[in-house]
Amino acid sequence: MASKGHQIICIDVDKVKVDQINHASSPIREVDLENLLLTCVNHQANLKAYTDYKRILNSNMTFICVDTLSRSDGGIDLSHVRDSAREIGRVLAKVRSYHLVVVKSTVVPGTTEGTIIPTLEKYSSKKVGRDFGVATNPEFLQEGKALHCFLNPVRIIIGEHDRRAGDILQEIYQDFSAPILRTDIKTAEMIKYAANAFLATRISFINEIGNMCKKLGIDIYEVAKGVGYDPRIGNKFLDAGIGFGGSCLPKDLEALIFRAGELNYTAELLQSVSKMNKEQPLRLVEIARKRLGSLENKVVAILGLAFKPNTDDIRQAPALSIIARLLAEGATVKVYDPKAMPSAKRLLPGHIKFCDSAPDTIAGSDCVLIATEWDEFKDENLYAGKLVIDGRRTLNPEKAKQLCQYEGVCW
Ligand code: UDX
Repeated sequence: MASKGHQIICIDVDKVKVDQINHASSPIREVDLENLLLTCVNHQANLKAYTDYKRILNSNMTFICVDTLSRSDGGIDLSHVRDSAREIGRVLAKVRSYHLVVVKSTVVPGTTEGTIIPTLEKYSSKKVGRDFGVATNPEFLQEGKALHCFLNPVRIIIGEHDRRAGDILQEIYQDFSAPILRTDIKTAEMIKYAANAFLATRISFINEIGNMCKKLGIDIYEVAKGVGYDPRIGNKFLDAGIGFGGSCLPKDLEALIFRAGELNYTAELLQSVSKMNKEQPLRLVEIARKRLGSLENKVVAILGLAFKPNTDDIRQAPALSIIARLLAEGATVKVYDPKAMPSAKRLLPGHIKFCDSAPDTIAGSDCVLIATEWDEFKDENLYAGKLVIDGRRTLNPEKAKQLCQYEGVCW
C-alpha cells in the first residue's frame, strides 16, 4: 500500500517487530519485501511503525491484520482480533471524522458481525454505518510470493456493511487490475474459507486417487496431467504427495469444520479431507517400515522440514508428524532443510541429529525420506545405492530407479 503512494502507519504490540520495520528490516522472509520496505521506510518515508494505537487518530482507515490461531478444539482463537478491535474502538471514541475499519484477518463467517462490530461499538460508544464504517477484505497470499500475490491479485473481495464503507475500500484498490466482488460481510468471510477448503480438498482428492493408482501400477502424475487439461478442472493444485501443511490450509479447514459443528452441521467431506491429510504423511513411514522390516534402531534421514520449498516455515509441516512417528517406532532420525534449521532446532526434540547438508544427512542412513521438494534435493546422484522414499515427486522416478531403490508415497 505504501508503494502505491499511501501514507502507512503500522501498529503492533511487539516492539521488536516495530523497531525492525522502522529499520527497514522485515520480520518475515518474503521475496522482494525488504527492498520495497527500504524504499518506503527510507526513501519515500511513507511507512512507519508504532506500538501506540493512538496513532490511528492520524488515519482514515484501519486494517485489522492480526493472526487468528487455532484452538486445540479446531476453532479459531480470536483473542488477538478482539484485543485489536477493543483498542481500535477506544481510539475511535476520540476520532472526529468517519473512519473505516477493514478486517483482513481470516475470521470464520459471522465473526465480524458477531464479535468485531459489537466490540468496536462498545469501546467507541459509536454506531457502525453512522459514525464509522466496517468492511472485510480477505487476503489470498501464498507464503514465499506474498508480495507478488498482493500486488497482482486474481480477485479482490470486499465485504461491506454498507455502500459507503465498500466505496471507500474499493477506492484504495483503484490501481489494481483484478475483478472486484462487492458483497456482504459474511459472504466475504466465507469466500476465504471456501477457497482454502477447496484447495485442501483438491490435494486430498489427488492423494486419494494417487494411493489407488499406486496399487494399480498407474502413475498419478500422468493421471493428473490428463485430468488437468479439462478447463473445468484445471491443472493447478493437483500434485500428489504427503499432503498440505502451513499456517493456513490446515487451520482454516479445521476452523470451518468446527464452525459447521456450531451450526449443528457435520461437514463430512471436509472431515474426510482433513483425515486424509493427517494420514498421508504417515504412509512414508509405513513404506519405510515395510522395506526395512522394523524401524527400531534404524537410521532414517529426512530431507526437507518446511511445509513447502522456499520458506523456513515448518508450521503444520508433514515432516513433523513423520518425525514423531519415526521416533515413536524407535528410529534414529537425522534431518536437514536448506532454510528451516533454526526453527526446527527450536521445535524438535534435542536427540534428533541436525545435519548441515543433504549428503551429510544421507550418509550412514538406512533409508532417506524426502518431505519437501527443495531444488537441492533434485539430483538423483545424491542417493546412489540408498533406499529413498519420496513424498513430493522430488526425483524423476525413472532416473532414480537406475541409481537407488526408489519408491514414491503414491506412485
Ligand atoms: C495457502 C493458499 O494457497 C493461499 O491462497 C492462502 O491465502 C493461504 O494458504 P500457503 O499456505 O502459502 O497458501 O501454501 P500453498 O502454496 O497453498 O501450499 C499449501 C500446502 O499444500 C503445501 O504444504 C504444499 O506442499 C501443498 N500442496 C500444494 C500439495 O501437496 N499439492 C499441490 O498440488 C499444491
